[in-house]
Amino acid sequence: MIDYSPDLMGRTAVITGATSGIGLAAAILFSLHGARIIGIGRDPQRAEDARRIIKESPDARIDFFLADLSSQNQIHHLVEEIGQFFQENNINCLDILVNNAGTYSQHKILTEDGIEKTYATNHLAPFLLTQKLLPWLEKSPSGRVITVSSDSHYGMTIDPDDIANPRWYIGILAYAKSKLANILFTSEFNRRYGHTNVHAYALDPGLVKTNIAFKDQPAFSRLVWKIRRSAGDPPEKPARTILFLASEPSIQTSPENYWCNSKPKRCSQQAARSDLARMLWESSVQLCEGNSAVREIE
Ligand SMILES: NC(=O)c1ccc[n+]([C@@H]2O[C@H](COP(=O)([O-])OP(=O)(O)OC[C@H]3O[C@@H](n4cnc5c(N)ncnc54)[C@H](OP(=O)(O)O)[C@@H]3O)[C@@H](O)[C@H]2O)c1
Repeated sequence: MIDYSPDLMGRTAVITGATSGIGLAAAILFSLHGARIIGIGRDPQRAEDARRIIKESPDARIDFFLADLSSQNQIHHLVEEIGQFFQENNINCLDILVNNAGTYSQHKILTEDGIEKTYATNHLAPFLLTQKLLPWLEKSPSGRVITVSSDSHYGMTIDPDDIANPRWYIGILAYAKSKLANILFTSEFNRRYGHTNVHAYALDPGLVKTNIAFKDQPAFSRLVWKIRRSAGDPPEKPARTILFLASEPSIQTSPENYWCNSKPKRCSQQAARSDLARMLWESSVQLCEGNSAVREIE
């Protein structure tokens, strides 16, 4: 991994949550390797700040689009904007989609779609965005969908009928379940689209020193994260795994769904359940229904 230095010249990557932490580190690294970056942020000032940082890399090509990914309407609008941008700039395909944006909330908040916000942002947004961008990914010779999960998924299970608006809400459990959903989504994606040239990967970034649990959180949550993250790695470390998953030719059809430090990692038994993955997919389709977003091929 140390000397891993792929050439991403001519490839286009969409990276969500590219305004900070792991997403920003990945955007910088991808830029250094020649990729054209479409960064997704939710705040205009943070997007502009990140764009300037990424632009410092020699020959960086970076554009930002804004969307609150907890809103399905904003995801639809975002995809329209990206499609228009691709057409105007003669970009023929999307090579890499990094579903990185993520959130933690100590308290239960419902989105405008009536869905618990952690689940909407961490699972349904990757699900919907991937479906909507699939036509562009399929035009790539080796399309890749990379979703940032977490080892917090161990010990979790999901009730697909309860997860979108859970009766009992505990922030850390909601977060961990959404990360379990990331792996189930990845494995079901590969089962459904295994015959195409698009492949999906979920990764555990490890414990990373970012501001994720500082944002809009009460003092106690911030204090807990301040202590916990002090043992974390810099975001550049998982960014190298994302780069590997985005570019390594030998893993294009890998049967492995879950990765850490550029190597396959054993996920939990729940995350490996194909019946649960299928149920979660079907429930996610229903939660996105009415937006005519999901293009079933089976
Ligand atoms: N840090 C860790 O130890 C760790 C461990 C395991 C997994 N992860 C995962 O790693 C990913 C990146 O997190 P991070 O640690 O790098 O934290 P971070 O620095 O807070 O980055 C999260 C990114 O997601 C964006 N985001 C959050 N909610 C959004 C929304 N509703 N719409 C659009 N963008 C939104 C944030 O935008 P703003 O800049 O506007 O806030 C930010 O760019 C997450 O999926 C997280 O679950 C992190």
